[in-house]
Amino acid sequence: MRVAEKKERKELFKRIRQQKREKRMPFTIMFELTYQCNFKCPHCYLGESQDNKKKELTTNQIKKILDGLADIGVYRIGFTGGEPLMRKDIFEILDYANKKGFRFGLLTNGYFIDEKIVDKLKKTNVDKVDITFNGIDHETFAKLTGIEDSYEKVFGAINLLLKRKMQVTIKSTITGINKNQIEQIGRFAREKNIRYNIDGEVLPCRGGCNEWVEKLSVDSSVVSNLRKKVYPEMFAPKDAKKRTQSKSRRTRGKIFNCGVGLSSFSINPYGEMNLCLEIDYPEFDILKLGAKKAWQKLKEEVDKIEMIAQNGEFVCADCDLLPYCGWCAGRSFIEKGSFNECTQYVKQRAIDRKKAQGK
Ligand SMILES: C[S@@+](CC[C@H](N)C(=O)[O-])C[C@H]1O[C@@H](n2cnc3c(N)ncnc32)[C@H](O)[C@@H]1O
Ligand code: SF4
Ligand code: SF4
Repeated sequence: MRVAEKKERKELFKRIRQQKREKRMPFTIMFELTYQCNFKCPHCYLGESQDNKKKELTTNQIKKILDGLADIGVYRIGFTGGEPLMRKDIFEILDYANKKGFRFGLLTNGYFIDEKIVDKLKKTNVDKVDITFNGIDHETFAKLTGIEDSYEKVFGAINLLLKRKMQVTIKSTITGINKNQIEQIGRFAREKNIRYNIDGEVLPCRGGCNEWVEKLSVDSSVVSNLRKKVYPEMFAPKDAKKRTQSKSRRTRGKIFNCGVGLSSFSINPYGEMNLCLEIDYPEFDILKLGAKKAWQKLKEEVDKIEMIAQNGEFVCADCDLLPYCGWCAGRSFIEKGSFNECTQYVKQRAIDRKKAQGK
């Protein structure tokens, strides 16, 4: 695809998403197909998500949910996990999603991708494969995945996908273990002409185990410096004004900063609809309620939470850091059990951002 065409598509996507948000219609959603995983990433936010008392969805149940999602107008699905390629029926699911007319991507650790899998993936029409790439050598990779040959396998998977001209994004969470390799991974991505997403926050895991957040988190100033080095064009002077002017929902006095309850939600392997991947709440049973009713109830839940802001009890209401703050209510919920709390890490990031802008 030509660069101009790609840009036009991106703009169109953004415009449609905005319209869907205004009308509060679902647009892009995330679907966790399983909590099984072959990796043992020490920091994985899934933590204690697996519930042995519950059963993961069967193939037919997933198909039924996909029917419901098509009926309510969902456009794109990110299939994730756990490791989605651990499901034996993964290609039946992806083929069905394709048949229903969804656009969809696959978020994977990449370990199982060989030539056969690439062939099968290609046939499903998956529009993008996101691969987690947390290091640029054997040792670092193994430390962050808990699996000895993970680097070699995942590196090979990226090359195989690119050889077949598939759309690939790689992504890293910046931690104390890999922070010195992020620039190098950025250069690798540029050489391969693939997109590279870096995430500066080690999220707390569901169930509240914060041990790895403390052990692995890096200072927000380290994250900002790495961002500048990995994405120099974004920090070019001509874009500086645009960046400081971008207004989030939060600066407009909303609890949620993103598309939650406007046009997005997530589904877990037990068929429960949640606000997003980071939070296992409110767990509405989609098979029982049907997609339409579950989405309606989720929107009502978000409205209830937003009432906190409207009732003047918003924790950020009088905070002068608000325009610099990238806080997410979901993280507040996991760490403090409430959508309306400030936490130390986020506050420090806002202070650093304010300083960086010379204010
Ligand atoms: C839960 S994984 C599921 C998909 C697949 N197994 C993978 O690793 O890409 C989704 C993404 O979340 C990231 N992730 C996991 N735990 C995290 C944490 N505590 N903080 C930030 N990102 C995390 C992973 O690195 C991965 O990119
Ligand atoms: S590969 Fe993904 S799901 Fe598996 S442990 Fe790592 S981050 Fe978690
Ligand atoms: S620093 Fe805390 S109180 Fe201030 S805007 Fe951010 S989250 Fe809200």
